[in-house]
Amino acid sequence: MAKEKFTFQAEVSKLLDIVARSLYSQKEIFLRELISNASDACDRLRYAALTEPDLTGGDADFRVWITIDKKARTLTIADNGIGMSREEVVRDIGTIARSGSREFITALKAKQAASDEGSAASTADLIGQFGVGFYSTFMVAERVTLTTRRAGADTAVRWESTGDGTYTLDDADRPQAGTTVLLHLKPVDEEDGLEDYTDTWVLKEVVKKHSDFVGHPIRMLVERQEPLLDNTGTPVKGMLPKTVTEDETLNSMKAIWTRSRSEVSGEEYAEFYRHLSRDWQDPVATISAGMEGTFNARILLFIPAKAPFDLYHRDRITKGVQLYVKRVHVMDDWKALLPEWLRFLKGVIDCEDLTLNVSREMLQHDRQVKAIRTFATKKTLDAIERLRKDKPDVMRTLWAEFGAVLKEGLAGDGEFRDRLLDLMLSETTRAEGPTSLGDYVERMGKDQQAIYYLGGSSLDGVRHSPHLERFISRDIEVLLFADPVDEFWLQHDLSYKDTPFVSISQGEIDLGKDATEADTPADKGDHSRFDGLLQTLRTHLQDDIKEVRLSGRLTDSPACLVGDTNDLSPQLEQMMRQMGQKPPKTKRILEVNPDHAFIERLRAIHSTNDKAPELDTYARLLHGQAILAEGGTLPDPSAYSRIVMEVAYQAVSAGAADVASAAAEPATDADTQTPHEDPS
Ligand SMILES: Nc1ncnc2c1ncn2[C@@H]1O[C@H](COP(=O)(O)OP(=O)(O)OP(=O)(O)O)[C@@H](O)[C@H]1O
Ligand SMILES: [Mg+2]
Repeated sequence: MAKEKFTFQAEVSKLLDIVARSLYSQKEIFLRELISNASDACDRLRYAALTEPDLTGGDADFRVWITIDKKARTLTIADNGIGMSREEVVRDIGTIARSGSREFITALKAKQAASDEGSAASTADLIGQFGVGFYSTFMVAERVTLTTRRAGADTAVRWESTGDGTYTLDDADRPQAGTTVLLHLKPVDEEDGLEDYTDTWVLKEVVKKHSDFVGHPIRMLVERQEPLLDNTGTPVKGMLPKTVTEDETLNSMKAIWTRSRSEVSGEEYAEFYRHLSRDWQDPVATISAGMEGTFNARILLFIPAKAPFDLYHRDRITKGVQLYVKRVHVMDDWKALLPEWLRFLKGVIDCEDLTLNVSREMLQHDRQVKAIRTFATKKTLDAIERLRKDKPDVMRTLWAEFGAVLKEGLAGDGEFRDRLLDLMLSETTRAEGPTSLGDYVERMGKDQQAIYYLGGSSLDGVRHSPHLERFISRDIEVLLFADPVDEFWLQHDLSYKDTPFVSISQGEIDLGKDATEADTPADKGDHSRFDGLLQTLRTHLQDDIKEVRLSGRLTDSPACLVGDTNDLSPQLEQMMRQMGQKPPKTKRILEVNPDHAFIERLRAIHSTNDKAPELDTYARLLHGQAILAEGGTLPDPSAYSRIVMEVAYQAVSAGAADVASAAAEPATDADTQTPHEDPS
């Protein structure tokens, strides 16, 4: 058989079904689609009237209006836009995936290119592009009647369909140019997402959510109950209120992000922010910028004054940054538009020519989205940078609220790591209040090679940790990190301007002694005299500790715990456990202070009897107190408290024996009793 060419046949009713059932995730979207079409129609007539003013029939007050009839369960969306001729209805409404709007733009662009006159601004607002939005009405309507009259024509036409794949056309009356879409609504079915679209409250909400910034007023007759007043203006008791109807504009139309920064007052921005975020406080920073080049976008972002309660429930953040395309709300999914560590931002990103998929629910081009993301991130970091320079107080509160989130950006792919390190504020042992890394580095002594830090699970814990003793006595500043996120980015072996971060609780640190520090008794002797004690401690603690050694970082405490340079920190290990992971148990190193009297006493006991039974008790006591001193958690608190009681009991017994012998009475057998046998 000869080669033949065929055209696909489409089962139209099925196709409509797909649009109505599967394309959109929310049924209320139909209203956005109809309003967008009406707005497009107004824009097109406005454009046509530029050259043919008579087309408006004297009514250039473009608007969209919504009418409801509760009894008949109908909803009407009407406009005084361009309307359609009979042929256009067949072509644009009667053909699925045919967009009159898109063709209009294409034709116009061709015309402009030919005549070289630039009036693109008047068409930049047209929203329609796929030629399917209209059919979303069948998600909510059993039957749709569209009556339309083309501007400049005398006759109107009525199109009607139940979405079964057929439609009827008829002559009709319409006093004025424009289009009216009448929906015979399906019964309410809230479980199926079908709300009562004859309810003014529902409609108001839906318009606010999706079409608030459409450039033409969206009006609706709203009923209001008003109390009956007497002639002094006081409500008359016992009289039913009267119902008044008012023409209300439902959308704010104030897409202030489309205006340049100099045209918008600070109060306008703040009002917009409050409207958007439902926050009553003013934002601490407003970021407004336009992106031009291969494609255009505008961002208007706000940094709130306070962290919302759901900051750590990423999936629940809803009113974050919203995406608009030509003033029509497209989605709330901030995750596509911003890195997670900027999830506290509020605002709007509006892209003129972002490629959307047909339902307008998904973004199609990674490259565009990535460019917007990078742009928004840079602009936000610029704004924070300005705050740091100009308003250090505000910067400090910003960091207190959002620092822990921003630091998430230091881990991960680290694309903005250097900028974030520059902005970071950290608690420290020296300066009043948090310091920047820049200031820290500036204060560093000339021999200091590293940015010293101490991590822990609470700021109080780290601030009083024994690890700091020698650093404080030597006046070497140490940064203190206690946010859970710190454990993650500090794993990355970072440096700031070529100065590495060094943990003072990991690896060996020997600051040596400087001239101001007097020699201690331990310095005079030979440190090898501790060897035997260290070996015994190792044996007693071998289940928990991988090494016992003398410390160079302590001045006042008898002992502390440190890790090897590449070990998991105890906080990280604990976090991994909480997240359900099973990291191997990391044994730490016990460092003891040879200058401490307690250690010296242990050494003396050990040198008389290296098998003395109390050495085991003291080893455990020492280990536990090292954990407590750094704010850590004892693995077995009740075992530890038994040891403490045992030692305390011995101490009070010794005291009691002294008292007893002072009274010249024979010692009781309390000396030999252990507290386990008689804890009361
Ligand atoms: N209220 C209206 N006034 C005039 N023309 C309209 C109106 N509503 C729809 N049309 C015409 O019908 C076409 C199809 O509308 P539909 O919403 O299905 O697609 P679209 O708006 O072109 O694209 P999208 O799928 O992106 O919404 C429009 O392009 C427009 O030409
Ligand atoms: Mg449309």
